[in-house]
Amino acid sequence: MLEIHSVAKSYKKSGLLRNNQHQVIHDVSATFDSNTTVGIIGESGSGKSTLGRLILGIEKPDQGSVTLNGAPVHKRKFRQHQISAVFQDYISSLHPFQTVATLLAEVMNYSGETPQKEILTQSIQLLEEVGLSKTYLDKYPHMLSGGEAQRVAIARAICVNPRYILLDEAISSLDMSIQTQILDLLIHLRESRQLSYIFITHDIQVATYLCDRLIIFKGGTIETELQTKDLSQTENAYTRELIDKQLIF
Ligand SMILES: Nc1ncnc2c1ncn2[C@@H]1O[C@H](COP(=O)(O)OP(=O)(O)OP(=O)(O)O)[C@@H](O)[C@H]1O
Ligand SMILES: [Mg+2]
Repeated sequence: MLEIHSVAKSYKKSGLLRNNQHQVIHDVSATFDSNTTVGIIGESGSGKSTLGRLILGIEKPDQGSVTLNGAPVHKRKFRQHQISAVFQDYISSLHPFQTVATLLAEVMNYSGETPQKEILTQSIQLLEEVGLSKTYLDKYPHMLSGGEAQRVAIARAICVNPRYILLDEAISSLDMSIQTQILDLLIHLRESRQLSYIFITHDIQVATYLCDRLIIFKGGTIETELQTKDLSQTENAYTRELIDKQLIF
């Protein structure tokens, strides 16, 4: 189980003043059970990606803790191969001078012990799992469409057999029809690989398609939490505002 206990995070504002801190995350607690998909939904600047970095252990909270099965995620040995991530900016998250084969092998060959032939077989299997043929092995990132690049990013995320994948606006830059294809792929992988997703998005409609539970995030803190099936009946004013703005229901 992944747990966030009372985390807070501030950044230094630019300028010469001392103690010029800007608090981005305020006292956030949440639990992410295995085999569930939780959406973190909020407007731009609400702190979603910052919270995502704390969950991934890339950054350490100023206060509180993020733990996976009781161990702190900012210690690499506890989170390694347990939590993967897929980000919005798919082209820059893939190294421009590496082929898909190298990009995949780099993640798989982490220990340096896996034989080359096995890496190739595994890479082909992984590509098939994300809906790409083996002809993609020789392609460079600039030769991929947005949807194809995100499929490669997903293949990289799943290849270490993680329990959790954090997706930060992972489909937001794609066309609507491609978004649906990637969402369906995520739903398929969730079942076949018993994955849990933390799905960060500004798009409440997309979140309802994928998520069991929704965390509505506002101003660096949790405004409310609810089961997706209860969204249309919510009485939370801010959530209603988001629903009305995005014209759903
Ligand atoms: N490394 C940093 N240093 C200073 N300020 C930061 C840093 N990272 C984020 N911030 C500030 O924290 C606030 C929240 O940013 P964050 O990227 O977490 O929001 P977000 O909800 O992900 O927004 P978006 O939907 O646009 O991606 C912003 O005001 C941002 O400027
Ligand atoms: Mg963000």
